[in-house]
Amino acid sequence: MGPTARDFPSGFLFGAATSAHQVEGGNDGCDWWAWERRGGAKDPSGAACDHYRRYPEDIALVKELGLGSYRFSVEWARVEPEEGRFDEGALRHYRDMVERCRELGVEPIVTFHHFTLPTWLSDRGGVLARDSSRLFARYCRTVAEALKGRVTWVLTINEPMVLVLMGYVQGVWPPGKRPASQVIKAARRLVSWHEEAFAAIRQVDPAMRLGIAKHWIDFRPLDAGDAMHRLGRRLQHQLFNRWYLDRVKSHCDFIGINYYARQYTTGLLRQVPLATPDAPRTEMGWSIVPEGLHLALTEASGYGLPLIVTENGIACRDDRWRIRYIDRHLAAVHEAIAAGADVRGYQYWSLLDNFEWAEGYRPQFGLVAVDLGTQKRTVRESARHYGEIARTGRLPDAID
Ligand code: NOJ
Repeated sequence: MGPTARDFPSGFLFGAATSAHQVEGGNDGCDWWAWERRGGAKDPSGAACDHYRRYPEDIALVKELGLGSYRFSVEWARVEPEEGRFDEGALRHYRDMVERCRELGVEPIVTFHHFTLPTWLSDRGGVLARDSSRLFARYCRTVAEALKGRVTWVLTINEPMVLVLMGYVQGVWPPGKRPASQVIKAARRLVSWHEEAFAAIRQVDPAMRLGIAKHWIDFRPLDAGDAMHRLGRRLQHQLFNRWYLDRVKSHCDFIGINYYARQYTTGLLRQVPLATPDAPRTEMGWSIVPEGLHLALTEASGYGLPLIVTENGIACRDDRWRIRYIDRHLAAVHEAIAAGADVRGYQYWSLLDNFEWAEGYRPQFGLVAVDLGTQKRTVRESARHYGEIARTGRLPDAID
């Protein structure tokens, strides 16, 4: 520990995150674009934050705020617009993004897959296509070759179980609801995606540290006196939080944890979606329970790997909520570190207000507000507040 109990370890990566489809704009070669055109989202992603062109100033903003890292993703549909044809311009673009980070002293954390698929792949079965693991590994190898020697932290896949849940089980995301046999097949397939990508990237650049970003929910039984609620908690915790990690842990150099909320279980596979009796909620309706992040990090420590909080954030209208949210979650991270968890960083979701998938543009997660009409960026007070924590590496004196 540092000189006071409020200090984070030196080198701790305080950063912010985005993903390609949510901010870049004009990403018309992917399955989500097609899904949006079929009415699958409240708003189409359209020009988004125009980050594909504006990334130099956006990364400069990361730096100016005092943050030390930037998590962003590479868009497969841009890099491989047709099967087997890799686009040099797109690869150069992502290399330039990494270079921009490097020249400003911002550590890049790069995700290779963040929910979207090129349409040429989704058209022939997406994740379930017979050779999708090989295709994903080939894409990852190509990106790794382009970024070789320039990136340390790489996430192969973002939230594989969320993709399975929202896409295959609930069907509110592409590819749409599928029978149980395909749900299981998709989850298994995403395990081999990671394993094959891990081997491919390792060969190209053994210095890259590879992991996945795993969404973690703090499941609790709604009624602790009810055996079914308790059983539901155990089952859902196992299936959603642990099943995937248990399978890929030997192919990880670190684990990314995306944490947002607690959820109450009321049956084997049933939960209460929004109503959390004892906690305030965000604009998404998610309960605010910082303690859940501490618990997630403590349990995930059991895998024996370094951890990074690769996402944590709040959608709200009143920015004071964001300040409180960040403080309280960082305090939870700090506590986990004090208790022995090897946590290397915290990436706030998100740097910018952006396209929140099926929910469109209404939820505002950003440290920085974006006017979608003019693309003007406005730094929120919470961004300054978080930047100050990042610059000093220390929690504020008073957290309410
Ligand atoms: C998790 C996802 O990785 C990200 O794409 C999404 O916008 C945030 N959570 C907020 O829902």
